[in-house]
Order: sequence, then C-alpha cells, then structure tokens
Amino acid sequence: MKFLDLCNERFSLRDYQNKPVEKEKIEKVLEAARLAPSAVNFQPWVFLVVQTPDGRSRVIESYKRDWIQSAPCFVVAFANRQESWKRKVDMKDFADVDLSIAIEHICLQATELGLGTCWVCNFDPATLKSNFNVPEHLEPIAIIPLGYPSENGGVSKAIKNRKQLSEIVKWETL
Ligand SMILES: Cc1cc2nc3c(=O)[nH]c(=O)nc-3n(C[C@H](O)[C@H](O)[C@H](O)COP(=O)(O)O)c2cc1C
Repeated sequence: MKFLDLCNERFSLRDYQNKPVEKEKIEKVLEAARLAPSAVNFQPWVFLVVQTPDGRSRVIESYKRDWIQSAPCFVVAFANRQESWKRKVDMKDFADVDLSIAIEHICLQATELGLGTCWVCNFDPATLKSNFNVPEHLEPIAIIPLGYPSENGGVSKAIKNRKQLSEIVKWETL
C-alpha cells in the first residue's frame, strides 16, 4: 500500500471479529515497533501481548467499555523511564514521543495486514499496573486492541475528519 493510502486506511476500530490474530501477524506488527526511531536510539519500550481470556479481562478492567471486549488481542505499550533520553538543558523526558512513534508503527503495520487497531490511553493506569504487577519504572502509555474488523466496524473511514492543511501549516512565520 502507498504510504498516504495507508494513513487514510488506518482508523480507530471499535468492533472486532471473534477471531484470533495469527502469531506471524502479531510478530510483524511488533517488528514494525522494533524498527521505530527513538531519541539517541535508546528504545525505551516494552510491549506486552495479551490474548488469553484471563489476561484480556485484566486489561479490560482498566478500561471498562463494551466495545473493547470484542478485541481478541491487546498490545500494551510501556515506557521505560529508566532508559528514556532526557534532554540535558531541561531534563524533558522523551519517552512519550518514542512510544508514540512505535505505537503508530504498530497501527500502520496492522492496517497493511488487514487488521484493525485503536489507540487507547483513557485507561486507569493504577488498575493496569496492579493487574500485571508492572514494575515501578515501566509506565503504561497505551493499550492497542488488535484484531480483524467486524462487518460493521470494518467500514473504512477513508474520509477523515481533519483540519485543513491551511489551518495547521504556517510557512516561514507563525
Ligand atoms: C494518544 C491517543 C489516545 C487515544 N485514546 C483513546 C481512548 O482512550 N479511547 C478511544 O476510544 N479512542 C482513543 N483514541 C482514538 C482517537 O479518538 C482517534 O484516533 C481520533 O478520534 C481520530 O480518529 P481515527 O483514529 O479513526 O482516525 C486515542 C488516540 C490517540 C492518538
């Protein structure tokens, strides 16, 4: 798929088929995350794959929405704050930026494979951390449900509700 077509095709899928995702496809989306750039190439991330009924219910407990229950697989993306680059001049931590790039690689690669995803950040981090005994230095950044689109959910949202370029791009001066 051409890159802009891929960007158009990716959308937030909130209705999944009750069908497991093949291991090779999960590995492929994780490979896309692995290849993502990161500040100073520190790669401050960990990706937890959850597919079992018990694991899925522990994820869902942190984000209680009906739609998410249909997802057969979750990738939970964690930032490792011990490994992330901090800018010396102001100690700004770039873990969130690094994780965002890797997570979007996952979403775009999944789209190319005919899979749907949705960024989910509005979960309860304390619940997620306690349900998976997450060590202190790892911060859950996003839950990414992964699966095949259901018949209804799979309707392509190719026409995106986005600001126009003229609203968001300034040339030479702000
Ligand atoms: C950082 C981030 C956090 C998000 N968190 C949630 C979330 O908690 N729940 C949800 O349903 N969608 C969430 N979304 C999805 C956005 O609502 C969605 O990307 C946006 O409305 C644009 O729609 P599209 O993804 O279909 O193009 C999140 C997206 C981003 C980038």
